[in-house]
Amino acid sequence: MKQGGLVAFPTETVYGLGANALDEYAARKTYAAKGRPSDNPLIVHIADYEDLKKIAVNIPPETDALAAHFWPGPLTMIFEKSDLVPLGTTGGLDTVAVRMPSDPVAAELIRAAGGFVSAPSANTSGRPSPTTAEHVENDLDGKIDMILDSGAVDIGLESTILDMTVTPPMILRPGAVTADMFAEVIGPVDVDETILKPDSSQHPKAPGMKYRHYAPKAQLMIVEGDLREEIFAIRQLAYEAHRREKRIGLIATTETLPFYKYGIVKNIGSRENEKTIARNLYRVLREFDEEDVEVIYSESFAVQGIGKAIMNRLEKAAGHMRIPASEIAAKQKYRRIIFVSGTDSARGPMAAELLRNQDLKQEYVIDSQGMVVLFPEPANQKAEAIMKSFQMTLEKHISQMFDGENIMDDTLVLTIDENQKRKILTDYAQVKNVFTLNEFVQDDTEIPDPYGGPLAAYGECCEVLKKLIERLTDKLNLLAKGEEPQWEKYM
Ligand code: TXA
Ligand code: MG
Repeated sequence: MKQGGLVAFPTETVYGLGANALDEYAARKTYAAKGRPSDNPLIVHIADYEDLKKIAVNIPPETDALAAHFWPGPLTMIFEKSDLVPLGTTGGLDTVAVRMPSDPVAAELIRAAGGFVSAPSANTSGRPSPTTAEHVENDLDGKIDMILDSGAVDIGLESTILDMTVTPPMILRPGAVTADMFAEVIGPVDVDETILKPDSSQHPKAPGMKYRHYAPKAQLMIVEGDLREEIFAIRQLAYEAHRREKRIGLIATTETLPFYKYGIVKNIGSRENEKTIARNLYRVLREFDEEDVEVIYSESFAVQGIGKAIMNRLEKAAGHMRIPASEIAAKQKYRRIIFVSGTDSARGPMAAELLRNQDLKQEYVIDSQGMVVLFPEPANQKAEAIMKSFQMTLEKHISQMFDGENIMDDTLVLTIDENQKRKILTDYAQVKNVFTLNEFVQDDTEIPDPYGGPLAAYGECCEVLKKLIERLTDKLNLLAKGEEPQWEKYM
């Protein structure tokens, strides 16, 4: 580095591409290696607080308190620069961004290199910032002199940038140190309004924030709404993509993972600990670059604490493409279909399995339940034998008692006979959509009860069910057609 070389090194936020900050020529090499526009200033990293006075002037008095609380750590502060710092490092600005990282490897490197190390994130411009040495190698191998590998970083998102040249100071980039944390130390600070709002006519104040960096190869879209709606909308999007044979990715969380069936699903972390989400975000985006997916749908996250930084980076990666979850969620009347029979051992489970095997335009959770289920049992063996002959199976079926208390308005209840319907209507006033299967598909072919009969009786029953389920499919698809979202907008 003393000879003008470039060394990538770990910090607690992301890996940086280090160079001697006082060497204008090294700065030019940094921009070239990253393929980054040279009007985008670099952060100068220091290891000792006294060194700040050598590169910054007119340092405001609150700086001491901020440094005492947050340095070394994920905070960058902007000051008027001294003559020691070349304009090549600051992108021609007369201010300088300064940070003191807490990673001990970083501190040692900075001291060994002379005390002032300029370091942008060590990624190719336009790619997610690197959180491991492998990420750096993938982007910059052959273009830089050395990579110091000390494993995955801790935080995973770049430092908070605080402009100290204005009063009160202003956050130009959100990070692990939040506005609330500043407020506790020096009182309220301002926040650059362009951080989360794309449509503002104003330019962001940190030059780097105007570029669409952190961009994955596939189009990323953020699905926004309350979590229940988000999950539902993403399921529908994934289902539609599956029908169209489009390869898509989903960004999900530990808590929501089980809800997704289609697409390449990646767990970004736990909603209970948003730090894990920050730590994994760039890795997950990079992993999607390796997958052959056209679109990535992501859940959104609360904009509190580090959540603000997570959403800021996610929004940038998405180029601010958002999908209102409610727009998709509101389009579908029925989300769940339950077939209700007597013991939930033959006709109900057969109907459910037949419907699951239909080409449905919308995704439904399809179940069966019984009015008289005393204990959970597998499906009737003759029913199973018949289904097998049609390449279907009731293998996973376990009979379940009808649970009228937990039926919501989005659930369609289809009974096998009139008695079951009547009983539900009398016992559960809140169940809105209950019909006999015959009634719902407007076909009165009687569904025979094969119980106790020979295999052939189950076969005949299945034939009738097949016909009714085909009619049901047509009806559901017709209903769906009138309600279909404009998929093209989202795909
Ligand atoms: O966590 C981090 O800050 C990482 C690690 C390596 O320290 N570094 C990093 O650097 O994120 P970089 O170059 O990828 O982002 C620096 C951001 C850019 O958006 C740049 O425009 C802004 O800081 N910046 C630098 N100097 C500035 C200045 N004088 N005025 C306003 N913005 C500045
Ligand atoms: Mg960067």
